[in-house]
Amino acid sequence: MNVLLLGSGGRESAIAWKISQSSILDQLYVAPGNAGTRQYGKNTPLDILDFEAIKAFVLSQKIDLVVVGPEEPLVMGIVDFFKSDAALRSVGIIGPTKAGAQLEGSKTFAKEFMQRHRIPTAKFGSFSLETLREGIAFLREMKAPYVLKADGLAAGKGVLILANLEEAEHELTQILLDEKFGAAGKRVVIEQFLTGIELSMFILSDGRSFKILPEAKDYKRIGEKDQGPNTGGMGAVSPVPFADEAFKDKVLNQIIIPTVKGLNQEGIEYQGFIFFGLISVKGEPYVIEYNCRMGDPETEVVVPRIKSDLLDLFEGVVSNTLSERDIQFTELSAATVMMVSGGYPNTYEKDKIIYGLNTVSESLVFHAATKSDGPKVLTNGGRVLTVTSYGKNLEVALAKSYDAVSKLSFENAYFRKDIGQDVI
Ligand code: AMP
Ligand code: GLY
Repeated sequence: MNVLLLGSGGRESAIAWKISQSSILDQLYVAPGNAGTRQYGKNTPLDILDFEAIKAFVLSQKIDLVVVGPEEPLVMGIVDFFKSDAALRSVGIIGPTKAGAQLEGSKTFAKEFMQRHRIPTAKFGSFSLETLREGIAFLREMKAPYVLKADGLAAGKGVLILANLEEAEHELTQILLDEKFGAAGKRVVIEQFLTGIELSMFILSDGRSFKILPEAKDYKRIGEKDQGPNTGGMGAVSPVPFADEAFKDKVLNQIIIPTVKGLNQEGIEYQGFIFFGLISVKGEPYVIEYNCRMGDPETEVVVPRIKSDLLDLFEGVVSNTLSERDIQFTELSAATVMMVSGGYPNTYEKDKIIYGLNTVSESLVFHAATKSDGPKVLTNGGRVLTVTSYGKNLEVALAKSYDAVSKLSFENAYFRKDIGQDVI
């Protein structure tokens, strides 16, 4: 099987690493990939939003399966583009249609979907410029802190949590009237604030049946003890000790099954991953958000825990035979620690030489933003490398990752030293 994987981050590095081990793989291409994905397949300089260029590549290289890593091509309709093109109809693609990707592409859609299917989530209202006054009235009936979310994709920056009403009214006006988040903020979801502990669960679905993947917890804030601004994610662990069988059963029955059934009832085709961003409020799960793809850096701990052949599972997805496939996981724990550029998530410098890549043998070093320059590997973004290790428990896995991180370096590298400490 010839496979094209779209994306260039740590998530795609972990997926590429796993696909490269498949017994049914002929050739893997990663577009555009990074300096690390070259170990697993051929990097290809394609723009992942240029569907015509992707089509030409798929046809010329006889690609059998396209795996879409990030959300943007999905929200823009790459799956619909493939399914409506006669020349591409026989090519499998992992990811939902545009309608399914609305679970992530529109917070209003996601909230109304959950309401229609009685899936537990925070109470909410959704407002546009035309209903700004109603939005302010809605805020005044809520209690602090106030949660405001831009409706559309905002690269993880579209959520504001505000301590007082004046600030919340001001921000709501800024988003709707002054277009603070651009087109993503044409609508705003205002939500009840939930207090609890967050974790993520994932499924792979062929539209009818699904496989539940190991759960994970990521660490979003830049600073230790969850201080400072949000990032794409500074590390992750799997399993999550507080997610016991009773909790996961509730997630299955109250959230996962109603989501898959709901998509079916609404005639929405969904062959891909669903990411459930959850919060446990006194042991009861609520959905904070859906994503229409795997998480990053959660993938860097979830995928290494899958023992089965990922391409066999993907084949099951595109042929609607997932229920006949077997999925096995390792009992080992996995932890990943992200090394980022100094200054991230604000301004930072790129093009720093990375040292020590050949010195790590006991851990997996997934590249998140790197590029090659002759024999050198350079930093090429905020989140640069993520180091994943296995262990008989999270303590062991974390110790191995931190040991590996100590052997890697680039100018102004930063990492959190407390990944996993709140759950072990
Ligand atoms: P989201 O992009 O929707 O995942 O939101 C980003 C982060 O904001 C989440 O990971 C939570 O930490 C926080 N958050 C979002 N919605 C709520 C809520 N209703 N109550 C409390 N925290 C929230
Ligand atoms: N780690 C959160 C995300 O991928 O959106």
